[in-house]
Amino acid sequence: MNRIPLAGVIGHPIAHSKSPQLHQHWLKMHGLQGYYIPMDVMSDDLENVLKTLPKMGFVGVNITVPHKEHVMQIADLITDRATLIGAANTLIFRKDGKIHADNTDGFGFIENLRQGAPDWDPKAAPAAVLGAGGAARAVVAALLDVGVPEILISNRTKVRAEKLQDDFGKRLTVVDWVQAGNILEDASLVVNTTSLGMMGKPDLRVPLDGLQKSAVVTDLVYAPLKTHLLLEAEAAGCTTVDGLGMLLHQAVPAFERWFGQRPEVDSAARAAALR
Ligand code: ATR
Repeated sequence: MNRIPLAGVIGHPIAHSKSPQLHQHWLKMHGLQGYYIPMDVMSDDLENVLKTLPKMGFVGVNITVPHKEHVMQIADLITDRATLIGAANTLIFRKDGKIHADNTDGFGFIENLRQGAPDWDPKAAPAAVLGAGGAARAVVAALLDVGVPEILISNRTKVRAEKLQDDFGKRLTVVDWVQAGNILEDASLVVNTTSLGMMGKPDLRVPLDGLQKSAVVTDLVYAPLKTHLLLEAEAAGCTTVDGLGMLLHQAVPAFERWFGQRPEVDSAARAAALR
């Protein structure tokens, strides 16, 4: 008997996740049978839940905050990029019973930029990354992978940026948080990976005067879609790319692995995620 494939997303809390609407939309678009279910799971239960789901017909799950690092201790096989980042967001439950962990956040980040700013040349100039948390690790790994010559990184807590420099190497230059505005002059790309600008959090305020008009500014925050940073960058004449596309694109490889078809990131997918 062929079982209907099940997938889902595990986090705590999980009610805010946009992934269920997105995957259900793609299942419908492709006329596929399947379900994608949000699961609110506490850290203490994570391992038991992950060992049980394959027996219930789950083909894999997405992992979100706060379990992305923890899941690395539970997975049997881990891709090199997930190891480098130190976190996973996608699990495949293999037929041999093994749990395979991957991280598609960096892929989502780059694909979103390619779609939103097709003229951006990664190899032409340094990129400025604001923040040095978990999200920044995926962004830095992806930028190095596409050949960015230098990454100027600035974080309120400087030691976290220095840790990234230790882990990712010489192409990273750490800049004091108070000096963050100064690093933008040379950058062809500015990325906010901090949580500043998220609904309920203060805005990220960096002086954009030095920024070249040809620069691309992107924010990982997607609620609101237009953060203060993006509005300021738009007013300065720069190309801006919002963070929703990263969420959509990171979901593509997982959907394809679980359900066998490569989904489209288009306006209908964006609308579904915002529903
Ligand atoms: P994530 O996995 O989403 O990156 P995180 O690891 O908690 O989450 O990192 C949050 C990022 O937002 C960090 O760069 C954090 O700076 P610190 O390392 O100094 O904590 C940044 N951040 C959060 N609140 C901030 C604030 N009020 N001012 C400046 N940076 C802030």
